[in-house]
Amino acid sequence: MTIAKKVSTAMQKSSWIRKMFEEGARLKAEHGAGNVFDFSLGNPNLPPPDEFGSALLDIVSTCGPGSHCYMPQPGHPDVCKSIAAYISEEQGIEIAPGDVIMTCGAAGALNVMLKALLDPGDEVIVPTPCFVEYNFYVDNHGGVLRTVPCNADFSLDLEAIEAAINDKTKAVLINSPNNPTGQIYSEESLKALGELLVSKSQAHDRIIYLLSDEPYRKIVFDGSVVPSIFKAYDQSIVATSYSKDLSIPGERIGFAAVHPRAIHNEEIMAAMALTIRILGFVNAPSLMQRVVADLQGLSVDIGIYERKRDLLCNGLKEAGYDIETPPGAFYLFPKTPIEDDVEFVRQLQKELILTVPGSGFMGPGHFRIAYCVDDDTIVKALPGFKRVMDRYK
Ligand SMILES: Cc1ncc(COP(=O)(O)O)c(C=O)c1O
Repeated sequence: MTIAKKVSTAMQKSSWIRKMFEEGARLKAEHGAGNVFDFSLGNPNLPPPDEFGSALLDIVSTCGPGSHCYMPQPGHPDVCKSIAAYISEEQGIEIAPGDVIMTCGAAGALNVMLKALLDPGDEVIVPTPCFVEYNFYVDNHGGVLRTVPCNADFSLDLEAIEAAINDKTKAVLINSPNNPTGQIYSEESLKALGELLVSKSQAHDRIIYLLSDEPYRKIVFDGSVVPSIFKAYDQSIVATSYSKDLSIPGERIGFAAVHPRAIHNEEIMAAMALTIRILGFVNAPSLMQRVVADLQGLSVDIGIYERKRDLLCNGLKEAGYDIETPPGAFYLFPKTPIEDDVEFVRQLQKELILTVPGSGFMGPGHFRIAYCVDDDTIVKALPGFKRVMDRYK
């Protein structure tokens, strides 16, 4: 066999997702892309803020000798410094430049930290529904993903997490605001999770890390705030990126930051400086590091996503959909009126509406709508959403 068994199995397992994308492509070819309502991808539709283009031009025009060379693995020291200063404010604790490593997006950050932490068979607990790639990332480094369902409102089920912890648990990986639910985990629940991990680390005589994947941190609505995990638990690491809040996912830039009071902070940072190299990233893109360093705290206009959320949520609720109004990210995760979410998504396809079944996110009985699309797409799709729901009333 040419393709490695593991990859071949992964390809087969995700083949129905691929089939849905192929069907979407077929529908676009047949009906014209403008007539197909594509809510399937979390690819931000807003342009990056103007400051992004200006900073890029500025940096390109001032490049000199060495600008395009390798740099220390964690990134340009002045970039790590500027990011440390910003996240110290954001997280409410003092973070040093040496606690930060620049990465190829949040995906790169997660892989770099998981490779640094996991031994074969180590378990990583993930509350579900969750980002579909976590399974691959954990498996990449010999770990085992252990999923734990959230409560019905997609908040953390701490009892379920407690029950899942065992001698093999190396980390709990959370994502807030969440893809696919848009939920933000509350400060109280993170504090309780921190306390649980302190006592469970003692009981199992090994540090259980809290890994927090936060690329949607700035995409929050109704004045919501994403609580700091660094305040909740010392043995924690943040992974994040500028993909979603600056609308630059193709530029592959993000970072990981290790809690300054993590017992093994220095070893973890040193290990990540090695894993970024041996995973083949070597370092995060040099130009993009410099650009984002100048744009700390900036984002696209989040109010635009909030208006899109309201437009879609109100329209779907009127049509009879059962939805938790999400406080963040740019996804809705409504219940499907039938158990078979794949079938429901197929029915939506017949109305030229492309969404993703919840099963793909380990959240069966739901489907995900990525509403980072033009308002026009939302408005024109609503009648089709209603027609499908009407069939099940
Ligand atoms: C929850 C979550 N984590 C990580 C990523 C990867 O982001 P990046 O483009 O920064 O690698 C995504 C992208 O959709 C995501 O939704």
